[in-house]
Amino acid sequence: MATNPFDQQQAIPGVKKIIAVASGKGGVGKSTVATNLALALREYGKVGLLDADIYGPSLPRMMGALNQKPTVSEGNKITPVSRYGIKIMSIGFLVEEGSAVVWRGPMLFKAMDQFFRDVQWGELDYLVIDLPPGTGDVQLSLVQKVPVNFAVIVTTPQNIALIDAKKAIDMFERTGVKIGGVIENMSYMLNPVNGEKIQLFPRGEIASYLESKKIPQLGVIPFNTSISLGSEAGIPIVESHSTSMEAKSFSEIAKKLTFLS
Ligand SMILES: Nc1ncnc2c1ncn2[C@@H]1O[C@H](COP(=O)(O)OP(=O)(O)O)[C@@H](O)[C@H]1O
Ligand SMILES: [Mg+2]
Repeated sequence: MATNPFDQQQAIPGVKKIIAVASGKGGVGKSTVATNLALALREYGKVGLLDADIYGPSLPRMMGALNQKPTVSEGNKITPVSRYGIKIMSIGFLVEEGSAVVWRGPMLFKAMDQFFRDVQWGELDYLVIDLPPGTGDVQLSLVQKVPVNFAVIVTTPQNIALIDAKKAIDMFERTGVKIGGVIENMSYMLNPVNGEKIQLFPRGEIASYLESKKIPQLGVIPFNTSISLGSEAGIPIVESHSTSMEAKSFSEIAKKLTFLS
């Protein structure tokens, strides 16, 4: 008799809300948004950040934790890395930056299991999960293993990114995960000379799509070199420029997330 893979779904003890940060395309800013949202959520409780991008982990660098390593304690329990008051786990802590993780499905499923069952997350109000792009094994494994409260979809404004974001939304809907909303990243840029808005990517049909699907737009983040510099330097903008307009946008989005169940 076929078993239902969702039967293996199990809450993570002590973790109140699981938030998946996803997109269709790579490079739209998932990891940037996940790190900054995690930092902004500190205002509302204890936060964990899980890098589920097994093949392209970015969080050790983006969180300025490249030199840190999780420790393994008795009973093979893993103590996550702690940075900026956030508990972080990433496969990037375990492999050299620049070397590839070459895994097929079963190893990946095993790693995901360890992330959820063997990492000592402790008491967390929010566990933010940074997903790889697409709708593949990692996403499926996540929704089968743990009860994800909702997914936050990151996209850039143009249709090329939106087409893939729609696929991610479709996948979550089909697997019973609520869509918390969409964040439009690199929405525009302010011209440093005259303050005028520059449309970096052409604006596609995102607004009408969200309206037709009744999906909330959680916020808009502009392109700003302080954001990319912060990611590169390991000090996300919410930490380095906490009063900036961008940090405020992340705070407002974080606040909206606290109202979602
Ligand atoms: N709003 C932004 N302004 C400036 N640079 C950004 C912004 N969002 C993302 N970036 C940069 O774009 C690149 C890709 O972002 P990343 O978060 O790694 O995307 P993803 O996780 O979706 O692949 C990174 O170098 C990041 O610093
Ligand atoms: Mg990423």
